[in-house]
Amino acid sequence: MRFRPAAVYRNLGLVIGVFFIFYLGKSIIGYDDGKHISHPKNPKHLYITVDKNRIDHRFDKLSPKRILVWNSIFGSHVDNKVMLECPGLSDRCIIDSNRSRLGLVDAVIIHAPNIDEGLPPAEMRKPSQRYVFMTMEVPDNIPKISIPKHYFNWSMSHLHSSDVLFKYGGFWLTSKEAELRGFKIGDYFIPEKTLRKSKSGIFGLVSNCATSSKREWALKKLSTYMNVTIGGKCAWDEKMKEICPKGQKCDSIFAEYPFFLAAENTVCEDYVTEKYWERNLFPSIPIVLRRSAYSNVNLPRQSVIAFDDFGSPKEMAEHLMSLERNFTAYAEYFKWRNGGWTLAPWNTAGFRNGYCKLCEKLWDEEQPESTIEDIYAWFQAESRCENGDWATEWIQGGSS
Ligand SMILES: *[C@@H]1O[C@H](CO)[C@@H](O)[C@H](O)[C@H]1NC(C)=O
Ligand SMILES: *[C@@H]1O[C@H](CO)[C@@H](O)[C@H](O)[C@H]1NC(C)=O
Ligand SMILES: *[C@@H]1O[C@H](CO)[C@@H](O)[C@H](O)[C@H]1NC(C)=O
Ligand SMILES: *[C@@H]1O[C@H](CO)[C@@H](O)[C@H](O)[C@H]1NC(C)=O
Repeated sequence: MRFRPAAVYRNLGLVIGVFFIFYLGKSIIGYDDGKHISHPKNPKHLYITVDKNRIDHRFDKLSPKRILVWNSIFGSHVDNKVMLECPGLSDRCIIDSNRSRLGLVDAVIIHAPNIDEGLPPAEMRKPSQRYVFMTMEVPDNIPKISIPKHYFNWSMSHLHSSDVLFKYGGFWLTSKEAELRGFKIGDYFIPEKTLRKSKSGIFGLVSNCATSSKREWALKKLSTYMNVTIGGKCAWDEKMKEICPKGQKCDSIFAEYPFFLAAENTVCEDYVTEKYWERNLFPSIPIVLRRSAYSNVNLPRQSVIAFDDFGSPKEMAEHLMSLERNFTAYAEYFKWRNGGWTLAPWNTAGFRNGYCKLCEKLWDEEQPESTIEDIYAWFQAESRCENGDWATEWIQGGSS
């Protein structure tokens, strides 16, 4: 299935909202518990860094910070409802897309995939304003226009090296971490009978037939050793093209197969889309390309199988087929669900993400003035996207 960025952004509020309501009932929500758990990389981005009381105190005397989203989000517009997803901050910032407020706002968001809609008139810019480069997309999907050096003050993206982290999905916590943060331990139990499969091999819905990661080459090679069933636009078999009508989740089809494809089209740092997030609790094992791309998601090791866990397609196929033959071994991949792992949604219990994080940062009077010299160069370098070299090597069995 193709990553549908428009749907993701448009539904972002809904997704986070649903998570939030779900957890509201299930967990004790603390905004700033000060208990910072260790995290492999850039932990500051994941947690609240500005104390709520400090913002409250200043808010008594000041009006809300204003944020303008200058261009469209794939044709649609953000409204202030997104602030409702920011516990403790919902009335501290106002966000809209009313361009006549350009001169009045504290931050101007430029949505990078729509940057070719044009930049705000330069003469309107004030030095106190933050111009923010925002995207959840990879560099290949961002139009290149001419941008002056040092144009942007902040970056806001899925990259953990961004000034403002803006990620899809959530964050996995171990039971110990969840307890420390006051979360109720997640319960993702699935009955054993759901794990008994009527079909064999990997199922995937694919609508990008030629990816930069060469995912399709790796799958083709794998299919010479085991069953691989592709549905959607790039189906190998004509009758499979219509198996999952547009807009439907098709959970039950995925559930019939022991494994399903959750691999991204592009392998770039921190780039994990709905391919994983919307299906990670299916009763089937997600198959991803490179394990390292998921390192910042903190996922339970046995909750996915990565192509690069194996030296070659043959080795991978042999392992997957051995799991199909041995139910005990297959079921072991679902044991983590009873092991106290908890999916923490963003913007609850100490986490702040996206618009909420931007709002928090605007309230932080200690933020120094800053600019990013060359935004495209920065984004390209930090994304560390891979081309098809890895897959090419792997299908020859020469990679590890
Ligand atoms: C946009 O902002 C201007 C200036 O604050 C205001 O007069 C106008 O009513 C706003 N437009 C909309 C559609 O809210
Ligand atoms: C592929 O699937 C078919 C039908 O389910 C099954 O009979 C066959 O054994 C599978 N082949 C492999 C290599 O697992
Ligand atoms: C099936 O898998 C289990 C768990 O990995 C293992 O202990 C057992 O020996 C396997 N059975 C066979 C027949 O290979
Ligand atoms: C934002 O960037 C502009 C342009 O480089 C710069 O003049 C301004 O000082 C920066 N503002 C802040 C608050 O960092």
